[in-house]
Amino acid sequence: MAHDHVTVRVPGKVNLQLSVGPLRDDGYHDIATLFQAVSIFDDVKVALSGERDRKERFSIEIKADHPHGIPTDKSNLAYIAAELMFNRFQLETPIDITIEKRIPVAGGMAGGSANAAGVIVAIDSLFSLGLSKSEMEEIGAEIGSDVPFSISGGTAVGTGRGEQLTPALARGEYSWVLALSSNGLSTPAIYKECDRLREGMEISAPQINESLMHALRSGDAKALGKSLQNDLQPAACSIRPALRLILDVGMDYGALGGIVSGSGPTVAFLAEDEDHALDLVVALTSSGVVGNVVRASGPVVGATVIDR
Ligand code: C5P
Repeated sequence: MAHDHVTVRVPGKVNLQLSVGPLRDDGYHDIATLFQAVSIFDDVKVALSGERDRKERFSIEIKADHPHGIPTDKSNLAYIAAELMFNRFQLETPIDITIEKRIPVAGGMAGGSANAAGVIVAIDSLFSLGLSKSEMEEIGAEIGSDVPFSISGGTAVGTGRGEQLTPALARGEYSWVLALSSNGLSTPAIYKECDRLREGMEISAPQINESLMHALRSGDAKALGKSLQNDLQPAACSIRPALRLILDVGMDYGALGGIVSGSGPTVAFLAEDEDHALDLVVALTSSGVVGNVVRASGPVVGATVIDR
């Protein structure tokens, strides 16, 4: 153990497509999704505790503009990740976890999963476990469907629950404008609403559209904008009708495409380039329908050690 702390930077994600199949017996849905990691990051610092013989193995501290309501106990995925790593590798030295949060909480951008991913990668480095990326992704899949992608980053197709990843061929860099909401949405509640809205309908196997893959392969932002699709969007808009208004305003102001990210409520708009993204930020902010608008670009790399 050459270092006493490690900091890992982890990106958020948007789903360029989220195709939701039927409800499975285990309570999950088979999905096919195209993830893209975008440049909103949380920093996860894991440090060996100064109190080597303290009883609690983990402490969690959250640094955020609004840290209230973010749990620091077992209901935080970072805690679950630490517990899994400690049990699996018989680690004993207590650690302090500090999470600097910028990814919106319960925002449909895999912020909680990013923190779990950060803890796995940081513990691997801090305790010199020598795990491969795919071993860490396997561990991540036990914690949540989006955790493996938070580790891998880039652009990838997710199948199964979303945890089985295949890198996708993607050319170019994409400019995103993200309309953030201060109140999150619960992922299980959105999937449940999706089932309710589709009750009695024949649901086919989830599938990624060929037009989307083609747009990505050729780096065609205009075509990509037209191909964005999220089967959870009707459910998110049903529970949070204001999202429809945000989507309409962004499209009226010339976004190439707009989509609810994952289970929402973050709305992601694709812009032509950085200048267009800036125009969109100004327009959305002055429209008064969105409180907080930020720019991001993608794809970016997954969980990366930035300091030790
Ligand atoms: O895997 P994760 O813990 O992120 O999933 C949270 C919840 O979202 C699950 O308990 C389930 O209700 C829902 N979910 C789903 N199908 C998926 C992924 C998540 O129904 N593919």
